[in-house]
Amino acid sequence: MNKGALPESARRLILLPAVFIFTFLAAATAFSESFKLPPLSSPEQYGNILINRTSEKNGVKPVSFSHWIHRTKYTCRVCHLELDFNFRINSTEITEKANLDGKFCGACHNGRLAFGHTKENCTRCHNGDIAYSKARFRELSAFPKTEYGNRIDWVAAQAKGLIKPKDSLTPNFKQMPFEKKLELAAEKSGTPPAVFPHRIHTQWLDCSNCHPDIFNIKKKTTKHFSMDRIVKFEFCGVCHLRTAFPLDDCSRCHPGMK
Ligand code: HEC
Ligand code: HEC
Ligand code: HEC
Ligand code: HEC
Ligand code: HEC
Ligand code: HEC
Repeated sequence: MNKGALPESARRLILLPAVFIFTFLAAATAFSESFKLPPLSSPEQYGNILINRTSEKNGVKPVSFSHWIHRTKYTCRVCHLELDFNFRINSTEITEKANLDGKFCGACHNGRLAFGHTKENCTRCHNGDIAYSKARFRELSAFPKTEYGNRIDWVAAQAKGLIKPKDSLTPNFKQMPFEKKLELAAEKSGTPPAVFPHRIHTQWLDCSNCHPDIFNIKKKTTKHFSMDRIVKFEFCGVCHLRTAFPLDDCSRCHPGMK
């Protein structure tokens, strides 16, 4: 093989920066690779799901469910604690019988709190269309805006009283207030810390939605709590990729980040 006409010293001069640039690019790519965020859906579909654990197997279309419609009326706590829906699609054993018995969707879809479980309404749920409620997104057009997710600032919408989601299906329930705001310093130096306001979360959630399954109840003791796990739907990523504002909004958690 002819190694070319260049003298050894000249080749080294070209090679060295090349190796340097390559190493630098590889490191930069590895960095951004570990933060590769899932693609975002359109604002009116963010947080929408098609439940299909048993539907198609039983000859009905998958069930469309929109988080933004429901969260204007109820907090996460109502469904994800009182009604036992899991934070993972197709993992809750929702059945036709349970719904008819007043559990899961049937706790509200009983003809009193919301449309009932009757023949003319089957396809309002079983329609296989993830964009089913799209036209109704306009109803939220006056809400304060953000850049990502539903592009709605749900915290501000609640603070302004534009929505008053119920905390419970039982009357006189009072959510336990807890105000502690945590500053979670990142392991990697140079990264501005993330903030975790308990007050805003307990407006939507119960302590036991997070403790002890997702987070330990002592600051900086949760194992493997880092950004590369968060982007894989763990820790903050349980909610902040699919219903609450998405991870793309870096500075909302890391106020010091541009
Ligand atoms: C009216 C009921 C209801 C309310 C209110 C509600 N959810 Fe859900 N959520 C569901 C159902 C149903 C599922 C699907 C569960 C299943 O299929 O096992 C779900 C699934 C999820 C998932 C998993 C989505 C996926 O793609 O795997 C997340 C995350 C979630 N909810 C977060 C929230 C948060 C945060 C709130 C409050 C802002 C909230 N939910 C409010 C009913 C609700
Ligand atoms: C308020 C929403 C809603 C309504 C209305 C509704 N369903 Fe369902 N149904 C569900 C959900 C959610 C599941 C669980 C789906 C899954 O996991 O794939 C389900 C499951 C089913 C299943 C799966 C098999 C089983 O036994 O669980 C059948 C069949 C079914 N529904 C039939 C019907 C029929 C017929 C109607 C109308 C009389 C109806 N549903 C109305 C939400 C609804
Ligand atoms: C905590 C009460 C509650 C639970 C649980 C609940 N819903 Fe609803 N749902 C409502 C209310 C109230 C409305 C009417 C909201 C409105 O019209 O503004 C509604 C509306 C809907 C709509 C109509 C959206 C539209 O475009 O008009 C669908 C579809 C729906 N729910 C499906 C479901 C399914 C599927 C489940 C279970 C997986 C479920 N809901 C569980 C309270 C609930
Ligand atoms: C949305 C999730 C979430 C909810 C809901 C939540 N917490 Fe926390 N909590 C956290 C996180 C994250 C930490 C820090 C864990 C870590 O750094 O390892 C934490 C830490 C704590 C700590 C330790 C604080 C310290 O300085 O060491 C206490 C006490 C606590 N939570 C109590 C509560 C109580 C009481 C509630 C309900 C009123 C609640 N939490 C609701 C996520 C939550
Ligand atoms: C169980 C669901 C859940 C988990 C887990 C969770 N959050 Fe949230 N978070 C929410 C919801 C719901 C809101 C209300 C805003 C929205 O829905 O967009 C919120 C709001 C916030 C806000 C308020 C922004 C503002 O405008 O004031 C911050 C900051 C935040 N979350 C940071 C975190 C951090 C950091 C973690 C992980 C340590 C975390 N969250 C874990 C559900 C969750
Ligand atoms: C929902 C809140 C939230 C959002 C949004 C968020 N982060 Fe983080 N991030 C955290 C938390 C919490 C930690 C601290 C974990 C720990 O204790 O090390 C963290 C840590 C980090 C770290 C330190 C290294 C590591 O793996 O822990 C970097 C770098 C980082 N985030 C970058 C980003 C970038 C870039 C974005 C926007 C694309 C972003 N973050 C969006 C919550 C968030």
